Amino acid sequence: MNKKEKKILVTSALPYANGPIHIGHLVEYIQTDIYVRFLRLSGKKIIYCCADDTHGAPIQINASKQGISPEELIAHYYKEHTEDFEKFYISFDSYYSTNSPENKKFSDLIFSRLKDKGDIYLKRVELTYCPQCQRFLPDRYVKGVCPRCGASDQYGDNCEVCNATYATTDLANAYCVICQASPIRKKSDHYFFRLSNYTDRLQAWLNGNNQLQEEIKNYILKWIEAGLKDWDITRDAPYFGFQILDDPNKYYYVWLDAPIGYMASTQNYCQKHGDDFDSYWLNDTGKIIHFIGKDIIYFHFLFWPAMLMGSGFRLPDNIVVHGFLTVNKQKMSKSRGTFITAREYWQKTNPSYLRFYLAFNLSRNITDIDFDLNDFKDRINSELLGNFANLANRSLNFLKNKLGGKIGVPEDEYYTLVQQKIPLILKAYENCEFRAAIRGILDISDFANKYLQRREPWKVIKESPEEAGRIISTCVHWVRDLEILLKPVIPMICQELETQLNVSELTLQDLEKNIAGHSIGQPKPLVQRIEHLDFVGQGID
Ligand code: 2FM
Ligand code: ZN
Repeated sequence: MNKKEKKILVTSALPYANGPIHIGHLVEYIQTDIYVRFLRLSGKKIIYCCADDTHGAPIQINASKQGISPEELIAHYYKEHTEDFEKFYISFDSYYSTNSPENKKFSDLIFSRLKDKGDIYLKRVELTYCPQCQRFLPDRYVKGVCPRCGASDQYGDNCEVCNATYATTDLANAYCVICQASPIRKKSDHYFFRLSNYTDRLQAWLNGNNQLQEEIKNYILKWIEAGLKDWDITRDAPYFGFQILDDPNKYYYVWLDAPIGYMASTQNYCQKHGDDFDSYWLNDTGKIIHFIGKDIIYFHFLFWPAMLMGSGFRLPDNIVVHGFLTVNKQKMSKSRGTFITAREYWQKTNPSYLRFYLAFNLSRNITDIDFDLNDFKDRINSELLGNFANLANRSLNFLKNKLGGKIGVPEDEYYTLVQQKIPLILKAYENCEFRAAIRGILDISDFANKYLQRREPWKVIKESPEEAGRIISTCVHWVRDLEILLKPVIPMICQELETQLNVSELTLQDLEKNIAGHSIGQPKPLVQRIEHLDFVGQGID
């Protein structure tokens, strides 16, 4: 590694420890993991940190409904989430929890630094309280009549009919979602973060960062121009979270300590591996890259950088934002049968196929991706199997069975094609344009298949085994390069192919290397055709 080269910390958003991982979540973990694996293949020093997001009212309410403690609930999901991630080959260096001593320490540190600066103040607010449940009700736990259009059964934050946004106290005929009782208004003292103090610094940071996606940056700049509101960062008991320093009746709002979980997870990694936390979060020796969905940009582009600025930590160098996943063009929902959990998916079919399909569709914009079951089957059968895996299998089989398994010197056609295509593919990976990378890879594979078909080594061999050897060795060199280029996307299939090629742990440095003289191992089919596949889509745990 070049001495001046920075260490890189990559994160994905922390999933709530309150439900199963579903294929909508997987877009992000797979996207991040492809990027991380690509950087590792390029020889970069990189760590990938994440955690379960364990705090908040819904977790406390759910645990109480189930008659278990929040700790038991989050332990259940920790186990389930980590098992699911492993099935999809998500290669975290640290998968931690926001309910950890490190997270408490950093939350207190950041809170007290902001408070000492005068950026946190107390204010009395009036909130919706359920006398029967004896708790303040978060937005999603109050329903009633929309104050603007009169639609009934609307949530406490916005109306799904007319899109109005309002406070829970504005609803007419409100009722508690937990017990159906009518709530009352009740006053409480809350801590607020003076986000408005950061207006200029946030603008300067956004304008000075040319890594960020333009469309996102423009959204955020518009929000800033419209004026930033201070942020209520505390909640009252009962709540599952961290009690606030010097005020044990209050808890940090989950969205305060959730992003701090990125730090806690880094710290957890550093402790275990003798690495230096400050080299990522304090000094200019590191780079921080977050991957998030478009629903949480407000938190990551405004609150989070402002908290970091105010407490003296480094700001993210890049925040990559992706769109949502629809299933057969529908929003994922249990009632429509489109809520496919990670578990239902991996119990029915191969996780590598989803990785391939998502990569095939992912680019650096926030357009939604559709998981269309028929399109999915077609892509796997025609591209992954028909184009790439068949090329590999045919070439390796022919070399092994007809020519003794020893690779020969490739023809010039090999070099010409890879020299044209490989730099573009690498650039596409670097820019998170995975769709373009996969297109480039499949183009090479398609060209190689046509070359094989046109040159007919199975006929040529009768007249000239040397000529047939050159043809098939050209293909095997392509296969080796395609294997390396596909490693970030389908690591397991590539690992199997490396065994068959009788090589191990190839990196980008092995691209375009002449391996004439090398003997391959035993070829086997790499990908199975998908004949029939259906999902119940109702959220099986
Ligand atoms: O929206 C969510 O699912 C949150 N749990 C994401 C948190 S990301 C980070 F800030 F922790
Ligand atoms: Zn109630």
